[in-house]
Amino acid sequence: MSQAQSQQTGEERVRQLLADDFAPWEKSRQAVYHARNGRQSFDSINRHDDGQRIYKDFSMKPFWKVLERAERDEHPAYKFPASYLNAVIHVDDAEIYALERGDLGYFDDAPRNRRKVMEWLAKDGNERILELLSDGGREIHAHAKPGKGKTSFANVVGTIRNAEVNNDTVIWCLTLDELEVLPVAPWMTACVPEGVKIDVTAKPKDYALPSISIALDDVFRDVIRYSDPVDLFEKVVPGGIYGVFPDPKFRECEKLTLSAFNTAWEADEPADVTPLRDFTHALLEVRARRDVFLHPTTLVIDEFGDLCPKNPEADASDTHRKVTEYPKRLGKMRKKNGSVIQLSHSLKRVHEDVLEKTRWFATMPQTPTPSSGLSGIGDVPLPESYTRTMSKGQAAVWNATNYCPISWANPYRRYQFVGEIAVSYPEMEGALDAL
Ligand SMILES: Nc1ncnc2c1ncn2[C@@H]1O[C@H](COP(=O)(O)OP(=O)(O)O)[C@@H](O)[C@H]1O
Ligand SMILES: [Mg+2]
Repeated sequence: MSQAQSQQTGEERVRQLLADDFAPWEKSRQAVYHARNGRQSFDSINRHDDGQRIYKDFSMKPFWKVLERAERDEHPAYKFPASYLNAVIHVDDAEIYALERGDLGYFDDAPRNRRKVMEWLAKDGNERILELLSDGGREIHAHAKPGKGKTSFANVVGTIRNAEVNNDTVIWCLTLDELEVLPVAPWMTACVPEGVKIDVTAKPKDYALPSISIALDDVFRDVIRYSDPVDLFEKVVPGGIYGVFPDPKFRECEKLTLSAFNTAWEADEPADVTPLRDFTHALLEVRARRDVFLHPTTLVIDEFGDLCPKNPEADASDTHRKVTEYPKRLGKMRKKNGSVIQLSHSLKRVHEDVLEKTRWFATMPQTPTPSSGLSGIGDVPLPESYTRTMSKGQAAVWNATNYCPISWANPYRRYQFVGEIAVSYPEMEGALDAL
């Protein structure tokens, strides 16, 4: 075989792996809506929601069955519902009121699995759980050094469970560094900035296989384009799962956040260019204050210590202002059923006002319990070294008063492709090089 031929078969092999792994799920109402480009109104599409399907594809039990079992076993999650159940089951005041009255008809339009969870909450004996459920959005901050399971937690608990139990619209604020959403990509819509050229490369770990250039929809279910953060929230639908690629042109971001955003094309020197991750501040602002989209929403933010560092500078990108605004936006957002999952390497690097606003923490395996002396963290009920003997796929979730151990399925197990999907903006890189 000539070298050209073996190259060809290597490429075909990678394409086949991707096609098998990332076969898109196209039957949900969210999928149909985007496939028809919004030409049919979302409410008139009579199909199931993605959240009613994904957990099955990951061989997970429905959550209402997990709850029944936790009850039978008197699991700490059941005994101390403030520690975890209140963080994963999203309800608002109107729903709590309906449950207290036993008015399950209120949930007639909710997806089946959510209804089953609501039935469980409303049943005799669970009044004490109902009583302590909060209104509005939730915040969970997962922390650990790399490789301990934060990303899989955000995929399984933050996305798959969340979609099943709450039918939240889940929005991953992606960076280009690492595509953390591959496990859920077949159910996910990639949102890309209009008019920005994007290069995508599949890089298998296996040295015998070549890196190949691919399209975003070779891994994601579909792709939509947005012109600015407001437009993005006008395009998403209830129960949809989205990966948002940041806009390197930061259109409307300054106007929305009243903070500086300097693109690679405009900045005078490299140090003044605003990091792409700052786009997240504009997304948060829109969900918190613009009332474009009010369906319960969860934003997933990885590398959170970079977004809201402990000592933000008053630099050319107004980092200080953006960071001090973050907890205010969070407060507004949670009143409008907006939740966040924040992931970071170390809580010591995160701004104290943000820690103060965050009600739940997930401490990953072999991760030291944070000290209650850490500014902003408040009371830490989790015993010292509690996660020392845990393994991957387990964590301790806690709030100011209680803690409980949880575990989740390995979301990577479904896939054969081992490697990385690298995404870049070549025009932005060209502009950066020219600085
Ligand atoms: N539920 C799980 N069960 C078993 N192994 C897991 C589980 N979740 C993750 N892993 C393993 O741990 C590795 C690191 O997980 P990841 O979520 O990427 O960690 P982090 O985001 O903290 O760096 C994964 O590559 C995977 O092999
Ligand atoms: Mg990670």
